[in-house]
Amino acid sequence: TFPPRIFSGIQPSGGMTLGNYLGALKRFAEKQNEGIETIYCVVDMHAITVWQDPDKLRNQTREIAAAFLASGIDPARSILFNQSQVSAHAELGWIFNCVARIGWMYRMTQFKDKAGKHAENSSLGLLAYPSLMAADILAYRATHVPVGEDQKQHLELTRDIAAKFNHDYGVNFFPITEPLIEGAATRVMSLRDGTKKMSKSDPSDQSRINLTDDADSIAAKIRKAKTDPEPLPDTLDGLKDRPEARNLVNIYAALSGQSAEAVITEYAGAQFGSFKPKLAELAVATLSPITTEMNRLMADPAEIDRILGRGAAQADAIARPILDQVKDIVGM
Ligand code: ADP
Ligand code: NA
Repeated sequence: TFPPRIFSGIQPSGGMTLGNYLGALKRFAEKQNEGIETIYCVVDMHAITVWQDPDKLRNQTREIAAAFLASGIDPARSILFNQSQVSAHAELGWIFNCVARIGWMYRMTQFKDKAGKHAENSSLGLLAYPSLMAADILAYRATHVPVGEDQKQHLELTRDIAAKFNHDYGVNFFPITEPLIEGAATRVMSLRDGTKKMSKSDPSDQSRINLTDDADSIAAKIRKAKTDPEPLPDTLDGLKDRPEARNLVNIYAALSGQSAEAVITEYAGAQFGSFKPKLAELAVATLSPITTEMNRLMADPAEIDRILGRGAAQADAIARPILDQVKDIVGM
């Protein structure tokens, strides 16, 4: 009963990584080409759940928008905008704060990770983040959300909020959104520690490849990436207890558009000394045109602002009538 519609967002909380590209951006562009309506958002209201320098935030919002555009998001075929410019997100977020339970929020592993030992001292927004994320998605009654594996738990909570709203008010108003977690790189790991995901908020720059890194630093980071001394095995099974090796194979697969099995078949018995330069070559070939395009776009911030402004008007035209119906259902 709900027409298919795709929504996803990325926080402007730092520079974009290869993990964001393979787990999110690359797939956002693919979805746009599948003929489904696609809505993509820079989620600045999520970024401020932890302190952001105002001028940096403004700039990073543009940089993330540039990364979307440089990765192939076409404003003529997708809606691209900045969250805080469409007030339906905040309004629906509040209503969802009153639907969701506090206990649901405390169970979120990302909250536990980000709040660490100082949960009582973290912002209330950091705790409520998944409720705002549910509003981002459901303000458009989106049916599908392409994300990386780290967002799976938050997506489940979006489903719980939609179901509880529908149940509490006796309506079938919100779809139960499906996560789309697919491809060879749904969870790109840190280059320094195969048990941690690659993240823009990791303090170590060596742990990640940034979309703004030049060819030499990409090659150096891959050369220095943590691995074990064994050569590559001839089946994926042989990578079971080798997370760092598995990660590099996954990255290679995602970049080359092959399955991880096909990569292992091609490189069976290879040493990292020969595999890593091939991987670096592939990463540079994929990322350098994106970096160049991002730099070109960033030279004209006013044009990025115009694109985001047009996107916000389009997003508002969809979200506003949905919010009006929600308010009516709630009795407002
Ligand atoms: P980050 O964790 O880098 O701050 P966000 O929370 O803004 O990134 O997530 C933006 C998108 O990128 C989400 O869809 C998320 O699932 C995806 N993503 C983030 N890190 C990774 C990763 N290491 N591997 C795959 N996808 C990722
Ligand atoms: Na994240």
